[in-house]
Amino acid sequence: MSSQKTKINASDLIYPVFVKDGLKEKEFIKGFPGTYRYCLNDLPTVIRKCEEFGISGVLVFGIPIKKDDMGTCAYSSDGVVVQAVRKIKECYDITVYVDVCLCAYTSHGHCGVLTGDDIDNEKTLPLLAKAAVSYAEAGADYVAPSAMIAGQVKAIRGALDESDNYRVKIMGYSAKFASHFYGPFREAMDSKPSQGPKDRIGYQLDYHDRSQALAGIKSDIEAGADIVMVKPAMPYLDVIVEARQKFDILLAAYQVSGEYAMVKSLDDPGALYESLIAIKRAGADFIISYGAVELLEYLNENRNKGE
Ligand code: PBG
Repeated sequence: MSSQKTKINASDLIYPVFVKDGLKEKEFIKGFPGTYRYCLNDLPTVIRKCEEFGISGVLVFGIPIKKDDMGTCAYSSDGVVVQAVRKIKECYDITVYVDVCLCAYTSHGHCGVLTGDDIDNEKTLPLLAKAAVSYAEAGADYVAPSAMIAGQVKAIRGALDESDNYRVKIMGYSAKFASHFYGPFREAMDSKPSQGPKDRIGYQLDYHDRSQALAGIKSDIEAGADIVMVKPAMPYLDVIVEARQKFDILLAAYQVSGEYAMVKSLDDPGALYESLIAIKRAGADFIISYGAVELLEYLNENRNKGE
């Protein structure tokens, strides 16, 4: 009988990196062990490790100095992410993914522009498209719209093509649930909704309903996504399995901040390994995890010990 053993390779992993504008040295994040907000100058060291291990890519998140109701710093020409992408690409040949959303940049913490208490799709789409084009022009390989605003993939693909950024691809956060597992991330980004609706249930998916998730994946594929994603990962392995069976496209799964913090609390690198094996076994081609680098360190150590 042939072996069916699931393995994880560095080329399966994408490592998320937080970059904060104006920071002088890396900052500890409350409730988010092993993860930091980095300053621009830290990036070469952080990325060098990823490149040495052969990690598939990094997913960049920016934290601006100032927030406003339109999320202006998300799409300004010298925004922190634009600077970060340029710096990474100057030093390393690694695939750069950039998250496209307004929540870290808006004073109210929502992923789109608010009109009254409602997320205003029409006003938000051009801003997301503008942000995506600015990241593309800085050198990003993939833009990854995570705002869950209907029509975001189509609007971004259109704007990329119109600005001659055909080479830039899209990883859609296609099945993103309104999850309780995003807490440490919102602490890192200071992006908890503080005005308007108290949560993101109005625009993220209901976790009681798997069919919505599959419909989200289908519509992102139709809109031109190159990679689709299920997020979070561990509580949604059934969705990963079904997406794998139904769609012939690259599939990413995001082990989000709360999942990672939970796994880390066990203080056993084997638990991290096991959790990522489960996600791979379910059928993900790419796994986005805050534990990507430490997992590879752990696997190397074990290999050296001959285990
Ligand atoms: C932005 C966004 C979120 C995450 C990635 N991009 C969370 C949210 O909806 O607040 C979550 C990632 C994580 O928890 O690690 N919209």
